[in-house]
Amino acid sequence: MTEHLIEKVREGKRLSFKASRLAFGSLLSKKWNTFEDANIIRVNSDVLDEVLRLYNENFIGINEKMFIRYCRFFNEMCYVFQEDGKVKGYSIFFLKPVLSFTGIKKTAVLYSFTVDGKYRGHGIGRRLLQKGIREMELNSVGCISLFVAVDNLPAIRLYRKMGFNVIRKVDDVCGVGLECYEMSLRPRSGNSI
Ligand SMILES: CC(C)(COP(=O)(O)OP(=O)(O)OC[C@H]1O[C@@H](n2cnc3c(N)ncnc32)[C@H](O)[C@@H]1OP(=O)(O)O)[C@@H](O)C(=O)NCCC(=O)NCCS
Repeated sequence: MTEHLIEKVREGKRLSFKASRLAFGSLLSKKWNTFEDANIIRVNSDVLDEVLRLYNENFIGINEKMFIRYCRFFNEMCYVFQEDGKVKGYSIFFLKPVLSFTGIKKTAVLYSFTVDGKYRGHGIGRRLLQKGIREMELNSVGCISLFVAVDNLPAIRLYRKMGFNVIRKVDDVCGVGLECYEMSLRPRSGNSI
């Protein structure tokens, strides 16, 4: 009983820490400068169900609650590719403040990214990433990072083409027992705020 209570308090602390980090990160996306792509919109209530369908179809270890929370906190950088009235892919980023000698730096993480299986190989993934990277440049984000399973060759090839480099190999981030790469890219600008 006492142990259960202690665990609940710990969990509560962890969640409120995470919520405050998200809230702080989302403050950094205020006055976000945008880059136009006629087919790319932000996640909104009209497309959310379709976005969640793609999320569920393409990933294991689903956490819809967390996914929706990121879409709400970081809406400016939650991109949806829409064509002919269909949602064909999405990329969801979030911002993470990092303290450095010169001040607080903005860094971004690619949280979730997929293209509907029916529409792959037509450049949609590339356009979703280009839009995100361009906007990170416009908004002085110093670094974009992501995690990708070591055997996910289509994604790794695309990330390399966009300029991402492998930083290190890590375990259990892309799923329990799975090896993945941490990759990162430094957009051209990236000043302290
Ligand atoms: C990774 C993914 C988003 C790519 O989307 P896509 O729209 O098919 O990609 P694009 O058509 O824009 O391809 C751009 C480049 O990616 C690489 N690529 C894409 N699909 C590939 C494949 N099946 N095999 C090898 N390289 C591939 C190529 O370098 C390609 O450039 P090219 O057309 O000049 O050869 C898509 O495969 C996907 O949704 N995968 C499942 C979800 C996933 O793995 N997400 C990433 C999690 S980290």
